[in-house]
Amino acid sequence: MDKNELKQEVNKRRTFAIISHPDAGKTTITEQMLYFGGVIRSAGTVKAKKSGQFATSDWMEIEKKRGISVTSSVMQFHYRNKDINILDTPGHEDFSEDTYRTLMAVDAAVMVIDSAKGIEPQTKKLFKVVKKRGIPIFTFMNKLDRDGRDPLDLIAELEELLNIEGCAMNWPIGMGKELKGLYDMRNNRLELYRKDGDDRFLPLNDEGKLAEHNPIEDESVYDQALGEVELVKEAGNQFDRDKIMAGNQTPVFFGSALTNFGVETFLNSFLDMAPAPAAHKEQDSDEIVQPDDPEFSAFVFKIQANMNPNHRDRIAFVRICSGEFERGIDVTLQRTGKVLRLNNATEFMSDQRETVKTAVAGDIVGLYDTGNFQIGDTIYTGKKSVQFEDLPQFTPEMFMEVQAKNVMKQKSFHKGMQQLVQEGAVQLYKKYTTNDYILGAVGQLQFEVFQFRMKNEYNCDVVMNPIGSRIARWVDPEQLDQSMSSTRNMLVKDLDDKPLFLFENRFAENWFVSKYPDVKLSSKL
Ligand code: G4P
Repeated sequence: MDKNELKQEVNKRRTFAIISHPDAGKTTITEQMLYFGGVIRSAGTVKAKKSGQFATSDWMEIEKKRGISVTSSVMQFHYRNKDINILDTPGHEDFSEDTYRTLMAVDAAVMVIDSAKGIEPQTKKLFKVVKKRGIPIFTFMNKLDRDGRDPLDLIAELEELLNIEGCAMNWPIGMGKELKGLYDMRNNRLELYRKDGDDRFLPLNDEGKLAEHNPIEDESVYDQALGEVELVKEAGNQFDRDKIMAGNQTPVFFGSALTNFGVETFLNSFLDMAPAPAAHKEQDSDEIVQPDDPEFSAFVFKIQANMNPNHRDRIAFVRICSGEFERGIDVTLQRTGKVLRLNNATEFMSDQRETVKTAVAGDIVGLYDTGNFQIGDTIYTGKKSVQFEDLPQFTPEMFMEVQAKNVMKQKSFHKGMQQLVQEGAVQLYKKYTTNDYILGAVGQLQFEVFQFRMKNEYNCDVVMNPIGSRIARWVDPEQLDQSMSSTRNMLVKDLDDKPLFLFENRFAENWFVSKYPDVKLSSKL
């Protein structure tokens, strides 16, 4: 591909994540989008998901058992001359670390809100991360087919709870049983509810009035919506592209994912407004890598073992930041300087995985990994070394002692342990003197998933004894004296053999600090 072609291809990419509180409708809206993209033939939503036909994110039985999505999956499709990468994010808060990293790999985010519930706790948490990244955020107020909250309230809540301006792109005409349609300010038209085809759209004249006969019989519902639209136009936040691109204003769309109402309008508007792949900054330098730079570069934001239980494979998900990926290219792994040939890569088309021929900046590809990659790794072609910025890492707060139930299973125990730890969902430590294994995680569910996967994927039952919540603090090995350790501050070492204390609570930490004022403790490596 020459530079012009590359630029054109890159500009077609739209890479985004959908964030929401569980049950707001993320899966349903994703399915509708895949339907528009022709990836699936019908969007039967959750019923199909529950019966196992919709296999994009139910590869782990635990997901079904718990009724939640615990993995980030990637879906790609082509729609209206755009190549779209959607990154799904786990809704459960115990997986926020995975979600945080996933959000580093996208250029925009879609926030789905249940219009009956408004902004829920997990939406708030995820929003904070997106906000920190300064990427555009698009809001879909879902479930209009049910009685929900006043739309004006919902918009006001964005500013009150999330500190972001909401700018309405369309407005509901009625709600729940009274839902009649959407007043679409952006496209200057009405969109009627429960109508298929293009005749559901009615054009509005320059004054924003219906040019034709009004088919909405319930005039009071229609008049109320018109009144609110007037109010929003006059007193609401004015559309500001710069603010949107910086993540300081969010365009708000209303609809109902389940009844496929307003989703297509949302998707089309989103694709018009969402940015093409962004440039990426390098670590510890002011250098910027442009997406249409002909040299290839990418970073690993996720590693997942046993995606397909029949194949026992391990996949490193990479976000391409510049250039073009071709099967068989040689890349340098920045951390080790090692040159690797990338023969085996995969794209993700809903429930089928397709082999990648070419992919460009903005795309996500999965590299089959035999143990070379770590989360946060940069790979590149060309002579100039590239290292992108570090991905966020959480300090674990909960700890468990772990061992194989059956001592004869040490081999699979170690293998499973090593692979699951490399995925980054749990952290592994050893007791300083005995080398007993200790796992650290951000939330309880991660331990459960670990235990479940050890059994299912490595055929190894593990026994876990909770140590409880602890405060992890690394200590300079030069300053360490083993007698400093006690039951209140357990001494362990991390994977790189660096020592750290696990303090029982703040008091234990404060006590330690007053006893050893010269010893430096740090919450990060
Ligand atoms: P999630 O991925 O964000 O967790 O949500 P998901 O799409 O799975 O949707 C959660 C529930 O909300 C599902 O109900 C789904 O059908 C419903 N839902 C999604 N969009 C809409 C909508 O626009 N209107 C209405 N009325 N419902 C919607 P479910 O299958 O009954 O699940 P559950 O209630 O058993 O949890």
